[in-house]
Amino acid sequence: MVKINFRDSKGETRTVDVEAGATVMEAAIRNAVPGIEAECGGACACATCHVYVDDAWREKVGNPTPMEEDMLDFGYDVRPNSRLSCQIKVTEELDGLIVSTPERQA
Ligand code: FES
Repeated sequence: MVKINFRDSKGETRTVDVEAGATVMEAAIRNAVPGIEAECGGACACATCHVYVDDAWREKVGNPTPMEEDMLDFGYDVRPNSRLSCQIKVTEELDGLIVSTPERQA
């Protein structure tokens, strides 16, 4: 299992376990992490699974695809480290990943 840390906009962190192969969005939804809505169910079509990737993890997580970037335009308070969590596949390499949820979703 891989541990993913979700920090909310107030600074509170929740750590969840998820199997490799799931997405960061699925990790959040299965564990009822607040702040991730995922209205489209992971199809990269809603931007309500927006997270900020902690700086220390940005390189490992990588950059959004052009399709994801287009969808991020609909996100709230998008920053250089913004990603759609449904587009981040969990791998063993991401054990301990830290992402933050925005104050609100789109
Ligand atoms: S769940 Fe809709 S874009 Fe990620």
